[in-house]
Amino acid sequence: MTSEIKINNSLEEHEVRESSNRQARKTWENKTVGGHRSSASNDTLEYFQQMRDYRYGYETPFIVNTFNFSDLQGKRILEIGVGNGIDAVEMLSNGAIYTGIDITQNHLELTKRFINFSFNKEEQERLLEDVVEGDMLTVDLPGNYDVVYSFGVLHHIAHEADFLNKIHSLLKPNGELRIAVYSKYSFFNIWMIVTWILKNRMKNLLTDWQSNVAENSELGSPVVIKIRTRSEVEKMLKQAGFKVVKYECKGFVQGYLPIIG
Ligand SMILES: C[S@@+](CC[C@H](N)C(=O)[O-])C[C@H]1O[C@@H](n2cnc3c(N)ncnc32)[C@H](O)[C@@H]1O
Repeated sequence: MTSEIKINNSLEEHEVRESSNRQARKTWENKTVGGHRSSASNDTLEYFQQMRDYRYGYETPFIVNTFNFSDLQGKRILEIGVGNGIDAVEMLSNGAIYTGIDITQNHLELTKRFINFSFNKEEQERLLEDVVEGDMLTVDLPGNYDVVYSFGVLHHIAHEADFLNKIHSLLKPNGELRIAVYSKYSFFNIWMIVTWILKNRMKNLLTDWQSNVAENSELGSPVVIKIRTRSEVEKMLKQAGFKVVKYECKGFVQGYLPIIG
C-alpha cells in the first residue's frame, strides 16, 4: 500500500514537472524573452546592444550592482535560464568562470550569438562549451559552484522545492544563490488586476492574463507564475537549506505603463 502511494506521488510530481517544462518550452522557444524591446534582427550585434541598453539602462538598471557582478573574477558561476545572454556576457566580462543552462534552444542560441559577438575566436570555443541545454532538475552538472545566479526563473517553476534542493546540492559549502523573483505587492500587480477586470473582462483566468501580460504568452497557454511575499520567499529558501543574507525589493520600469510605469 505504502509503495503504491509513493509511486502515485512520484508520477504526479513527474507530471507537474513535465507540464511546467512543456509550458516553458512552448512560450520561450517561440517568443524570446523581451525580444520586442529591440527593433533590430536578432542575428545582429545591434539587437544585443539594444537589448543590453534597455536592460541595464532602463528596465532593470540595478542588476549589475545588486547581484554584485564585479566580485565574480575567478569564481565558478552557474546561471539558470540564460534568456538573451546579456547577463552571461556581463559576468564573463567580469572574469567569471561561467556555465549557463536553459531549457530552450532559442535562448541558448541567442546567448551563444552574443558571446560570439563579444569575445575573440579562441575564447569563443572554450566559452560556448559551457552553454548547455537542459532542464535544471535533470541536467548533469559538475557542481561545486561559488555562485548560482538566476534572474526571473524560479517563479516559473511549478516544482520549486526540488529545484532549490538541486541548486543547494550544486553549490560549494558557503556558496551563494543570487535570484530575482516576482514580488506579491507591486504597482504592476495592481495594474494587471485592473486591466484583467476592465480590459479582459475576466474572460480568461487571472493566471492566464497575468502570463499574457508579463511573459507575452498566448492567451489560453500560460506559463507557471508564482507570486510571493518576502516571508514566503524566505521560508521557501530556508526550507531548502539556505540562509537569507540579503533581500531587496526593486522595481521594473515599464515604459508602456502610464505614470506608474
Ligand atoms: C523569464 S525568462 C528569464 C530569462 C533571463 N534570465 C532574463 O532575465 O531575461 C525564464 C528563462 O528560464 C528558462 N527556463 C524555464 N524553465 C527552466 C528549467 N526547468 N531549466 C532551465 N531553464 C529553464 C526559460 O527557457 C527562460 O530562458
